[in-house]
Amino acid sequence: MSAPNPRPTTTGGAPLRVALLGCGVVGTEVVRLLTTQAAELASRVGAPLELVGVAVRDVSAPRDAVVDRALLTTDAEALVDRADVVVEVMGGIEPARGLLLRALRGGASVVTANKALLAQDGPTLYAAADAAGVDLYFEAAVAGAIPIVRPVRESLVGDRVRRVLGIVNGTTNYVLDRMATDGLDLAAAVAEAQALGYAEADPTADVEGHDAAAKAAILASLAFHTRVRLDDVDRTGITGLTAQDVAWAARTGHVLKLLAVAEQVDGPDGGALDVHVRPALVPAGHPLAGVRGAFNAVFVEAEAAGELMFYGRGAGGAPTSSAVLGDVVSVARHRVLGGRGPVESSYAELPVQDPGLARSRFQLRLEVDDRPGVLAQVASELAERGISIEAVQQTVEPDGAAGAAVLVLTTHTATAAALHATVEALRDLDAVRDVVSVLSVLRVEEP
Ligand code: NDP
Ligand code: HSE
Repeated sequence: MSAPNPRPTTTGGAPLRVALLGCGVVGTEVVRLLTTQAAELASRVGAPLELVGVAVRDVSAPRDAVVDRALLTTDAEALVDRADVVVEVMGGIEPARGLLLRALRGGASVVTANKALLAQDGPTLYAAADAAGVDLYFEAAVAGAIPIVRPVRESLVGDRVRRVLGIVNGTTNYVLDRMATDGLDLAAAVAEAQALGYAEADPTADVEGHDAAAKAAILASLAFHTRVRLDDVDRTGITGLTAQDVAWAARTGHVLKLLAVAEQVDGPDGGALDVHVRPALVPAGHPLAGVRGAFNAVFVEAEAAGELMFYGRGAGGAPTSSAVLGDVVSVARHRVLGGRGPVESSYAELPVQDPGLARSRFQLRLEVDDRPGVLAQVASELAERGISIEAVQQTVEPDGAAGAAVLVLTTHTATAAALHATVEALRDLDAVRDVVSVLSVLRVEEP
């Protein structure tokens, strides 16, 4: 049973003290909304929200004029101790983790955008919130401005979610889009995403898929009532992709996207979860294919609701601050009116499936000798491992090597393990000069 809220509920319109941890891309915009919309927020909450301090690393660093420098402090612990609501937008594991636990244990409600921390140690935070009877909200942690945590955690909780497909990292979507439409190389496109405030402090977290994997873990936990941690997510980023991969995607009627996928697959005792992040070929007609730039989208397939798509700005200071403020109002209302938001739901305890057993369609691009019998040899290697071919395309590229052809094979659904074994066998064939790329193809459900 949850403990009662140890701090008295605010009554009579007394201000709620808000502490902000972090004042960077997101924090600055949180200050802007708290300041410029103070009157409206007070009306919506039923009490004023008073920003009592802003913890940063360097109080002397230049800041946007909206930030009252008198509120800046490096003593985050002291700040947390005098707050009713703690908003964490500093990022990283420590000191964020210690500060949030301190806040929760002290009876403050917490709003955080920190997906890395939630994916690594969410259950500890939930437990602390539960013990103190306070709220832990994190809408901004997944897909920036898009309301997706609340819909999955609350609106769809009466349904059975079957699969969640997300473009949940703005930086990589921006990068892939710039590569596809303007021919930029990966490094140049990443630099642009950094300048626009989309990328993490270390953009490796974006391009190697760690950020998307954290969001996948959070969404999977919520959708399937199971604790899924960052390490449970099978992850591949976009650094192995080339301009040719992006161009070939278009030639075969697809768009390359970094997808975060969480799916309940059949099996004994309720089945298992397949949770992964990897580049995938999305058929050009699928709604996710049209998600451009730093926009995000989450496509949810649920038994009763059918297909739903949540779309919007997935990164950037102002969009993310919208999600943060939505949470601040929610937790503040609870403090004024009483009650709490949802607690952790992990009763299902589904196992996470071995990645080798995960099933997908695949597209293989091979450079082969352009001579009779080669296609038959390649097809035979697939058939030997039970992999059925759905489509074949062969071309001789004007700028290709002498005597070589490009063979693009799309398979029906196969396990990752069978596919990898086939790729190894293909590499051993004399007629195969190179297995240039192996990509998943999104499985589209029939309506
Ligand atoms: P920034 O790097 O722009 O800002 C981080 C802020 O936290 C800075 O003000 C920094 O202080 C402060 N800070 C960092 N470490 C400490 C510390 N040890 N003690 C005190 N203050 C500290 O990050 P973002 O605003 O981009 O991101 C913040 C969080 O929001 C992250 O968890 C991120 O994943 C998440 N997020 C970001 C989105 C985005 O589009 N940027 C979107 C959704 C979520 P100082 O200013 O002195 O350096
Ligand atoms: N770096 C993240 C992204 C920020 O590019 O999506 C939003 O979580």
